[in-house]
Parts: sequence; C-alpha cells; structure tokens
Amino acid sequence: MLLIVEGLLVTILLVVAYYKYSFRYWKRRNVPYVTPTIPWGNYPNAIKRKIHYGQQIVNIYHQMKKQGHRYFGIYQFFQPCFVPIDPKYLRLIMSKDFHCFYKRNFYYNAKDDPISAHLVSLNGDKWKKLRSKMTPTFTTGKIKMLFKIYLECGKILGSILEEHCQKGTPVNIKEMFSSFSTDVIVNCAFGLEVDFFKKAEFSKHSRKALDFDMVRSFVMYLGAVFPDLCRKLGFRQVAKSSADFFLDIVRNTVNYREKTNTTRNDFLQLLINLKNEKVDGEEFTIEEIAAQCFIFFLAGFETSATTMAFALFEIALNPAIYQKLMEEITVVMKKSRGEITYDAIKEMIYLHQIVEETLRKHSPVYFVTRLCTKDYHFPDSDVVLKEGSQVLIPIRGLHSDPEFFPDPEKFDPDRFHPDRRHEIDPYSYIPFGEGPRNCIGLRFGMMEIKTALVTVLRDYKFMVNPRTHVPVQPSPISLMYDAIGGLWLDCEKIST
Ligand code: HEM
Repeated sequence: MLLIVEGLLVTILLVVAYYKYSFRYWKRRNVPYVTPTIPWGNYPNAIKRKIHYGQQIVNIYHQMKKQGHRYFGIYQFFQPCFVPIDPKYLRLIMSKDFHCFYKRNFYYNAKDDPISAHLVSLNGDKWKKLRSKMTPTFTTGKIKMLFKIYLECGKILGSILEEHCQKGTPVNIKEMFSSFSTDVIVNCAFGLEVDFFKKAEFSKHSRKALDFDMVRSFVMYLGAVFPDLCRKLGFRQVAKSSADFFLDIVRNTVNYREKTNTTRNDFLQLLINLKNEKVDGEEFTIEEIAAQCFIFFLAGFETSATTMAFALFEIALNPAIYQKLMEEITVVMKKSRGEITYDAIKEMIYLHQIVEETLRKHSPVYFVTRLCTKDYHFPDSDVVLKEGSQVLIPIRGLHSDPEFFPDPEKFDPDRFHPDRRHEIDPYSYIPFGEGPRNCIGLRFGMMEIKTALVTVLRDYKFMVNPRTHVPVQPSPISLMYDAIGGLWLDCEKIST
C-alpha cells in the first residue's frame, strides 16, 4: 500500500515538474505569453465549460493586443502554441511561406478509422493530391448544377414557417436552418433524398461526431501531440458506430449506381468519376470517398446553418437593414419573374454584404491551426519557430478587433460595400481561412446561405422573440457557435 502511495506521489511530482518545465517554453524564447495553470494551461474555464472555448481565445487575444503585442504564446494543457495576430505574419504563415506551415495538427488514423482520413486532417502529399483532385468539384459550373437541390430542399423552410405562422409560435431558426442544410449536404454529398427517419439518423451521428466531451477532447489532444503512438494503439477519431453508418451509406449508394449504371448531378457522382479515372494512377477507394463525403457533411452543415441563422437574426434586429435588403430582393426578383435563380442570387450585392458581415461578427469557426514543418524565422522579430511548433490563427479575435473593424459589436454590412471592400486587410478578415488550405466549400456555402435567406425572406417577415437573449452570448457547452437559449424569431406571412 505504502509503495502504491509513494509511486503515486512520485508520478504526481514528475507530472508537475514536467508541466513547470513546459510552462517556461515561451519565456525561454522571449515570446510574450499568458500565464497558464496546471493542468489545463490557458483554457481552465473553457475545459470546465464555464466559457466557450473559442471565446476564451478571443478574450486572450484582446488582453494581449491591448498590451501592444503582435504575437504571443499560449499553452494547451502543457503544449505551447504560437498565436500570431499581426495580419502581416498571417499572410506569411497562410500563403507566402505556406510550405513551412502546410500541416494542420489534426489526428487521423487511416488504417483503423479510415473515415477520419479526410481533407481536413490529411497532410503532405496525400492532402495535396486529394485537394487537387477535389478542387474541380467546387467550381462555379458544378455549383450551378447543384442549385436545383438548394431550391428543392428549400421547400422544408416554407413548411416549417407555415406551421409556426398558423400556430403563432416562435421559430428556433438555428434548428430550422440545420434541417435545411442537412438536407442539402446529404443530398449533394451522399446522393440521398432524406426522409424524416434518415435525417434523424444523420443528426444523431453528426452530433456524436461533433460532441467533444472532456475524455474525447483529451484523446484528440493526445492524438495531435503523439499521433504515431496513438495510431499504433489504434485510437479512433470517429466513434465506430458513426463511422460504420457513413461508410455503409456511401458503399450502398456507390454499389447501386455502379450496378444500375445510374448517375446523378451531385458531389458523390464527381467522386465516383474520380475513382474510375484513377488520377495519378492511384485508385480512389470507397473508404476515401466516404471520408470526403463525411467531412463535406461535417464541415458544411453546421457552419452554413449557423451563418444563415445569425444573418436572419441580425436582419430581424435591424429594420433599416431589412428594408434595404427587401428593396433589393424585390427589384432583382421582378427581373427574374419571381423565380429564385442562380443569377438572381449573384445579382444581390447587399445580401452578399450582409452575409459577409455575419461571417465577421458571428464567424462560425473561431480559429484554425497550422503546424510549423520547418524552423521558421519571422522577419522583423527575434522569433524562431521550431519545426513541430503549433500555430493558432485567431479568426474571431481579428474579426472583433477595433483596429480592423471600428465599433466591432455593430452589425454594419456597409463595411463590405464594394466601394469600401478594398480597405479591409485580407488577412484581418478570414472566415473561410486563407491560402492553399482555405475552405474548399466557400462558394458552395455562400450560395447555399444566400439562397436560404432569400427563400424565407421572400414570403415571411421576422421579428425577434423575447425568448432570445440580446446581445447573444456563445453557449459554453457547445463545441460549435450557438447562442445561449437559442435564436427565436416570430414570423408573419407576407401577403402578396
Ligand atoms: C459558412 C460556411 C463555412 C465556413 C465559415 C467554413 C469555414 C472553414 C474554415 C475556416 C476552414 C479552415 C481553413 C484554413 O485552415 O485556412 C475550412 C476548411 C474546410 N471546409 Fe469549410 N466552411 C464553410 C462551409 C463549408 C462547406 C459547405 C463545405 C463542403 C461542402 C466545407 C468544406 C471544408 C473542407 C473540406 C475544408 C478543409 C480544406 C483543406 O484542408 O484543404 N466548408 N472551412
């Protein structure tokens, strides 16, 4: 017994000593840092779910910016992480010197958990080949081809709103748009028209895939720090039942299409075509196809639904913005004879400004990461980042920085007016990331968001219901960006 207690004490002492040593990393390199605590580093309140994880980074950003720093160091548990906040450095990391930062520190395990080996997590040559194979999937021509699917799926928005109008009950608009964007992405990526039961299954498995409780966060963290060891131990990123669900759907659909010689205008078909083309002589396997469909779904449905919901919320909150937008929608729709078309949406410039401002103030992705792949000396500074160093790019911090966006809490679409757009430093506004690893679904997402907004605004007027907490606060228990209490709007049918 005494031996066990002694062993435990020694272990604790060793861990504390290791933490103390690690916590001197930034001091040794003369990089300003935020004082960490054992065991969570700089995220104690986020890990305890007292504050949203991303919001804690925003708070640190402003604390360090006020002290005049252009970069600083933080600790994730005991792991040091470099945070550049000068757009000049971000341009170097994300674009100009991308060859030194081409990795994202995301754990995957192609052997035991093939669905985790997708575009977001892969690195090096594998990522490069896959990205170039998949880029043609997202061209304007392909998105035009998918436009019909947006309109078809948009019918669900009308039926949800009709029901609430008739009953006189407020709508949870995040739920409404999640239902729509799930339909769109399942339709485009998995080639399925979703019924009520399939949708419930997709929602269950996506929630499972996005739910990072404390244990899972720690496993993911270990995977990022010790990837080879975790792969040897067979650690998974995606729960087996969810991975099997997504794999089975893709396998069955691909088999069906190949057996019956049927094709369809969707992402899955484009991926099947790649499989048959054997790009670079390498076969694109069913598992690889399924992994890409899975990440389109995961990366696309929540981010798009969040943007639609916050845009509609801000429109309902600001009558002058609503008025101006409705004038634009009315004029453009008259020209298209009341039809929502790809070209009509493209013509709505003010709508585009509103979505851009939503992506600034309410960016669904708080930050992105990079891994330094070669020792790197930042010009005009003494900072030398060592190979293997983690880098965190604080998207939301930049978007809420008054130096780049005066009065940042104000929702002001005119910041993005075509005559003023050039005044914004491109590396201070990065809702879709930047450089060769930016969001591949940018155009697809933008078109989907704008189409959904026009679909609902054409027929309904919205008012903020008192259930909504204004100003909104991010929910600390959600990994994604959700408002505490939800976004609730009353709706009224516009008589024509
Ligand atoms: C409002 C909607 C969206 C937002 C705000 C968003 C944001 C982002 C961001 C910030 C990144 C990381 C970029 C970087 O590291 O520089 C990213 C990557 C990615 N996104 Fe999106 N995204 C959206 C919609 C979509 C959609 C609809 C899809 C797919 C259909 C998608 C698929 C991806 C993929 C596959 C990556 C990884 C790209 C790579 O590493 O090569 N996203 N997204």
